Amino acid sequence: MKFFIDTANLDQIQEAKELGILDGVTTNPSLMAKEGISGQDNILKHYAKICELVSGDVSAEVISTDFEGMVKELEVLKEIAPNIVIKIPMILDGVKALSYCAERDIKTNCTLIFSPGQALIAAKAGATYISPFIGRIDDITWDGVDLVRQIAEMYAVQMFDTEILAASIRNSNHIVQAAIAGADVVTCPLAPIVGLLKHPLTDIGLAKFLADHKKANA
Ligand code: G3P
Repeated sequence: MKFFIDTANLDQIQEAKELGILDGVTTNPSLMAKEGISGQDNILKHYAKICELVSGDVSAEVISTDFEGMVKELEVLKEIAPNIVIKIPMILDGVKALSYCAERDIKTNCTLIFSPGQALIAAKAGATYISPFIGRIDDITWDGVDLVRQIAEMYAVQMFDTEILAASIRNSNHIVQAAIAGADVVTCPLAPIVGLLKHPLTDIGLAKFLADHKKANA
């Protein structure tokens, strides 16, 4: 399973990169706004900085909701770097844009996936990745991990190549459960990734090893 980091924060991206486990980056308009990045020029420059930091796939989202507007935007975005992936929302014109990209070998990430039906049409349109939002489904007391499981089963039966990129991950258990459910990729902030390595018995065990070593070598 690949690990992407879901942020536009360059320091967080660098920190994840230093762990040696980073396969890519996802962003969205909310995450860009959170970093104070605004205006077309600054947004493009920021994507370029992210692409310089990581060699893996970097999702850059279109803002337009009509097909012509999306194509205009994605034609600019794809020129930023070879590792740019065009993030396209799951709407009717988005499906057209996914097909447009698939015909031209432009990588895509279909975002805002909340049902197996949406995942099916996105795969049929040739999406490279689809992003089911686990946390936001859990927020309304449905089961986000179960959605990943259903999509994984459907893609296996239908032999789709589209990769399941589990998004809206809120905690470390979401990462583990998404992995078990068949996600190809998880994307999340740095904290849930770091949370994976925490266990109190590890801390207790290490403290004991170090104390015993100190005693024996006093
Ligand atoms: O990749 C999508 C993600 O950024 C959404 O996360 O926590 O806003 O639901 P969240």
